[in-house]
Amino acid sequence: MKDMLPNEIISKQQQLDEMVLEFKNYTANGATASYIPALKKADPNDLGICMISSEGTFIKSGDAEKSFTLQSISKVISFILACKTRGIPSVLEYVDVEPTGDAFNSIFRLELSHPGRPFNPMINAGAITVASLLPGDSPTKKIDSLLSFLEKMIGRKPMINEDVFLSEWKTANRNRSLAYWLKETGYLLCDVEEAMEVYLKLCSIEMTVSELAQIGLILARDGIHPYSSELLFSPEIASLTKTLMLTCGMYDYSGRFAAFVGIPAKSGVSGGILAAIPPSARVLNNRSTSWGIGLYGPAIDKHGNSTAGVKLLTYLSKEWNLRLL
Ligand code: DON
Repeated sequence: MKDMLPNEIISKQQQLDEMVLEFKNYTANGATASYIPALKKADPNDLGICMISSEGTFIKSGDAEKSFTLQSISKVISFILACKTRGIPSVLEYVDVEPTGDAFNSIFRLELSHPGRPFNPMINAGAITVASLLPGDSPTKKIDSLLSFLEKMIGRKPMINEDVFLSEWKTANRNRSLAYWLKETGYLLCDVEEAMEVYLKLCSIEMTVSELAQIGLILARDGIHPYSSELLFSPEIASLTKTLMLTCGMYDYSGRFAAFVGIPAKSGVSGGILAAIPPSARVLNNRSTSWGIGLYGPAIDKHGNSTAGVKLLTYLSKEWNLRLL
């Protein structure tokens, strides 16, 4: 990676600090997720961000040292691993790539659409199916294969927050309904309770914004690790995943996020957001730098996205010319 001029790093750091300070005010417009008791305990005023570029810039600001559970951001990782181990065509037999515009835990399209294949892997129905496709013949092995894959990306095997897992496990009636429906229609390759354990434990993996930013940069660089240069997954998988993030990654706000922010991102109800910004192909925006972004702001809006996080990314994307199209 090329070295960046120290002055440029300082000015980007200052700009980011100022933005985080200003956009922290928007945390007041949201609230921590109350449907998962353990998430309610987060500090709603927190806002932290880390950005890592392919040119070696590493900047973070705000409450950037806290760890939080991935929640729906884990859907990105499990989709990549399922594609890597089974191949894209085989995974797409079980899950489509079509946005829904519905809430993440919506059930009604599963019955309406024929033959019942979940619409995409970024909503719960699709992610529960993908959990059942992961390598390993037991929940423990499936979870371990995902944790080992994450270890290759971030350099350590992350922990599962048992408190969050248990509080979700006890209240997962809607997710169990989705899983039973998927089992009935042939879109679940293991038992309902096994798929639930895998899906909910993956949602409960704990990480920091720096680690998320590193994953974002690997995605932005089409699967190539920024430090080891190892190819962790194929450019085809990276491209498909970023497309799904852009079209389906921000729940039923995905269209507006793509229109007004214009970067591939995936959020979770813990307030985390993972974003991957590849070099631009636009003639007017000849940007050759890739960025990975990790963000945490646990006060979320009615869609499930961090209120301050969405505002900050909207501004940042415009100011730093990050949008793809
Ligand atoms: O399924 C759930 O309710 C959560 N564990 C995941 C929540 C989330 O971030 C929204 N999902 N798409």
